Amino acid sequence: MEPLSRREFQKRALAASLAAAFDGHGGFAQRSALDSAEPVPPHVTRTWLGPHFWANRLQDWRLHDGRIECLTGAAGDEVRTVSWLTREMIAGHELAHLSVRAGLIEDAGDGGFCGFLIGAGAGVLDYRAAALVQKASGTGGGVLCVYETDGSIRFRDHTSEDQPLAFAELRSRTLAAHATLDGRARVADVRLQLDIEPDARGRFSITLTARDPQTGIDIAGATRDDVLDADLLGAIALVSSPHTKKAGARFWFTDLRSEGRKIAVRLERALGPIVGTLHSLNDDVLKIGAQFMPIGESDPQSARLEVRPIGGQWREAATATLSPGYTAHFRVENWDRSQDAEYRIVYGASMYDGTIRREPSDRAPLTIGLFSCAIAAARSLEGGRGEPDLPDAELLGRFTSKSIYFPHAEVARHASHHHPDLLVFAGDQLYENSPTRRDNSLTPTLDYLYKWYLWVWAFRELTRNTPAILLVDDHDVYHGNVWGNGGRPAPQGDQNRGGYRCTADFVNVVQRTQCGHNPDPYDPTPVDQGIGVYYGAFRFGGVSFAVLEDRKFKTAPIQGADLDVHEAELLGPRQERFLAEWAKMPEGGAPRICLTQTLFACLQTSPSGRPLVDFDANGYPKLQRDRAVRLLRDARALVLAGDQHLASVVRHGIDTFTDGVLQFSGPATGTSWQRWFQPADPLPNAHGASTGDFVDAFGNKLHVLAVANPKITFKRYRTYRPGRSQGLGDRRLKSEGYAIVRIDRPARAIVMECWPWDADPAVPQARQFPGWPIRVPFDEI
Ligand SMILES: [Fe+2]
Repeated sequence: MEPLSRREFQKRALAASLAAAFDGHGGFAQRSALDSAEPVPPHVTRTWLGPHFWANRLQDWRLHDGRIECLTGAAGDEVRTVSWLTREMIAGHELAHLSVRAGLIEDAGDGGFCGFLIGAGAGVLDYRAAALVQKASGTGGGVLCVYETDGSIRFRDHTSEDQPLAFAELRSRTLAAHATLDGRARVADVRLQLDIEPDARGRFSITLTARDPQTGIDIAGATRDDVLDADLLGAIALVSSPHTKKAGARFWFTDLRSEGRKIAVRLERALGPIVGTLHSLNDDVLKIGAQFMPIGESDPQSARLEVRPIGGQWREAATATLSPGYTAHFRVENWDRSQDAEYRIVYGASMYDGTIRREPSDRAPLTIGLFSCAIAAARSLEGGRGEPDLPDAELLGRFTSKSIYFPHAEVARHASHHHPDLLVFAGDQLYENSPTRRDNSLTPTLDYLYKWYLWVWAFRELTRNTPAILLVDDHDVYHGNVWGNGGRPAPQGDQNRGGYRCTADFVNVVQRTQCGHNPDPYDPTPVDQGIGVYYGAFRFGGVSFAVLEDRKFKTAPIQGADLDVHEAELLGPRQERFLAEWAKMPEGGAPRICLTQTLFACLQTSPSGRPLVDFDANGYPKLQRDRAVRLLRDARALVLAGDQHLASVVRHGIDTFTDGVLQFSGPATGTSWQRWFQPADPLPNAHGASTGDFVDAFGNKLHVLAVANPKITFKRYRTYRPGRSQGLGDRRLKSEGYAIVRIDRPARAIVMECWPWDADPAVPQARQFPGWPIRVPFDEI
């Protein structure tokens, strides 16, 4: 197709828009047919904007009456964006046109602007991360091309690290308007057209015009010249914004179009209605959970699971109704585990497919991938000046891969190289304050989903074809720390006094979305407030696994009159009984594996190298910790966990330093809070730095086999960062990645591997963290 000139594109866009206005429907589906692979039914109201769009944030936008509407113009809600996932500005001295119809919904008083954000991610950031560009400016933030409530067209900078909310006006030429409209009429309903045109010097002129959609007459326009190609590349988004720190305007959009060789169409990047799937296999019981976008009440509320042998005939295996949290859960008994099978989730005209691989033989090696603690971004996308954490650290550009760890692409790619048979995500799949502020309401469901979807999106190619067990940790339920107190509400919402600060409905949504596909619980009786449980046992690949919830029953170190217990709890009587039963279940020719959130000790030292007290880990309460370690020893279990952000392998001790179980705490996928284990004096029986016999701050004995400390000492960190913070963003100074556990049945040994996120295991010289791999014969587990 020949490239269209600006005028030609304008004529076509206007004609289409006028035709849509007179077609008697006026719905989004008709107007945007060119850009939408799946028509959106007219008159639908829902949070999810459709598969072409990613909303920042989820709760700030909705689809309503055929329009995309921004729901907030509140002070502090600057630059709400909707990323157009299926379009990308690419390199080349070519034309690009964007067009959208837009209008003011309301103005709380101080005005604002609407239009396009281009150049998001600068063409180098992963498209999923580039889709998050919003609010606070920074490197890779792009340029705002906007129509404002004062009737002017402006170009505003979105790349400033120093003044992240200034949105400074960039130089441009104002074009003569052919018509002038008064006041609010100017922004009630306009067609905005952005034309990107190559100039004679290898650069570009970008022109934004606002037109009366009925007459086609220009109301306002401006051109910015001498724009570099590099400043245009990357994601394209719609923008609705009040002015900085003022309550102002919010806008609607419809009939979004693009044209020109400079814009690539990426239909494969569409997302939803099904974002991803999770599944587990427990003997012959298959469970699959499908995570949906927030569909509307008028959308279908049920989905179908279909399966077939590879290349065979599809048959319906189960149906499910969507539950709160927009999940559909399917359970299939008598599953044939002896061969690979394909599955697909069928929802209306949409499908999401994958493979259920045959269960690994109970004589072959079994490989487990262990992950935890995946923060979306080191820096907030909502504010804060860009400056290095420490003299040793570098500035992490806000919209660069140095700060936005999401979608954790290296971890997903490198872990898949090991072909894990089972994935374990041990908690903190998200952090409630990343990449945006925490919604402080007691049922922050949409805010949670916004962050949870990032995790699903990041890992969905891994979980599509590999069984996954998920455990919920503190940040998943919007806590910094959680002592569940058996499900009681937190007194005055204070997490430090134990219990849950959010509603039970919310906690259950979190658990359902993350753990609803896990094998059935041992005893499903809910705890206080009706909060569900998921601890239990399952068998996979001939190995007996236990899943613990070490947070839920644990009592808080601070107890007031509002907690009617005298004895501290760790696992609680129910899980202790369960562990005793698990020890009697058949072992199956390999050690049992226990999956839990955190470490049964407090493996931390202070900047001066002395043991640190941290009630959050399971070194506290000591008596109950000893009981747990004994029960796990009786089960002859290897314990796997996450949480710590400090990868380690320890042998727990009760009476001696080595009479307990082995525990491997995996590294963080990528997070902020750092911990250190660097004792001031060498430990007895050491075999490398920071290893040997150790007594933690609660008096627990243990033997440390390996630890992956941050690459900067705590002492040096504290020199530059006084106070209590232990946050660190620069990944060069941290030890983050994932763990691989190989149950090598032919050799009767377990091999524990600990991999840096950026080490490509396909490369022969790729190295694990110092101290790994660790090989332990079955008889010594
Ligand atoms: Fe964490």
